[in-house]
Amino acid sequence: MQNQFPMTRMRRLRSHPKLRDMIRETILTPNDLVHPLFIHHGNDVKNPISAMPGHYQLSIDQLPNEIKALKTLSIPAVILFGLPQEKDPLGEDSYSHNGIIQSAIKKIKDLNPDLLIITDACFCEYTDHGHCGVLHNSSKGMDVDNDATLELLAQQAISHAQAGADIIAPSGMMDGMVSAIRQGLDGEGFHNTPILSYAAKYSSSLYGPFRHAVDSAPQMGDRKSYQMDAANSNEALREIALDVQEGADMLMVKPATYYLDILRRTKDAYPGIPLGAYHVSGEYAMIKAAAEKGWIDEEAVMLEALTSIKRAGADFIINYFCKEVSKKLLG
Ligand code: PBG
Ligand code: ZN
Repeated sequence: MQNQFPMTRMRRLRSHPKLRDMIRETILTPNDLVHPLFIHHGNDVKNPISAMPGHYQLSIDQLPNEIKALKTLSIPAVILFGLPQEKDPLGEDSYSHNGIIQSAIKKIKDLNPDLLIITDACFCEYTDHGHCGVLHNSSKGMDVDNDATLELLAQQAISHAQAGADIIAPSGMMDGMVSAIRQGLDGEGFHNTPILSYAAKYSSSLYGPFRHAVDSAPQMGDRKSYQMDAANSNEALREIALDVQEGADMLMVKPATYYLDILRRTKDAYPGIPLGAYHVSGEYAMIKAAAEKGWIDEEAVMLEALTSIKRAGADFIINYFCKEVSKKLLG
């Protein structure tokens, strides 16, 4: 058989490990990683979280060791979640000046002012009903009252900024949440505090371990009246367009690996806006569990998962593997 042109041999470029290193398109670095922390009320608390091996509910007095470890591993940023002493219908602890998160922010800034602090702005960890805002009786039964929630959300964001938070990340999927927070922050002089919007957050079954960890499962109903339907991607672009209009500085897609198409479409539509992805608790738990059974190579799968998220368009990744990845990357 005669070819007019020589066969294109793609394998030439794969023949040497140094050459493969040289032409690799996607590089994961510790700078890409955001480490979640679960802050528990009280003292002397270090409760392992069952479906999230290696993660703990920590009381504020336990933070010095944790923050030191993150520094040693060059992890640049944390995102905070809180377990308050008291839950109530409005989630008051979430916007109180001495709430669990506000106290944790001050402590962390004391321990290491260089560590970026992102706060998850939502209500589900603080409300006794477990929903992401204030409830009201609608024609369809109890539902989250969008606009009443926005007012409290702005208060919550301001209280985070006042405590020293660097970035505010609203995760409740309320309409208008970005502009409500922007107006709130600007009104208090926090013009330079960026908003990272959980712009396309899906109603996913992969949040199970997290909800258990922070005791935030809805007491009745589900989150489908505010989080997105997993079947939709055009709708995600509309959500994202609205958040951009409202002034989001950065965007996020959540979960990550089942939603790589959403990451890619978002990056293509808004190449100029930094994009994050949240590799969530269920994604972590599945890898951990299979590895524990000896069925997969944990380190290899972890790196493949996170690399695929970057390849799809994410600039940074909130995830539960930060320490392992950083250890591996720093050698
Ligand atoms: C709160 C919130 C959730 C997660 C992050 N912020 C849970 C939810 O929406 O029910 C999930 C994170 C994870 O599963 O790792 N709104
Ligand atoms: Zn929530």
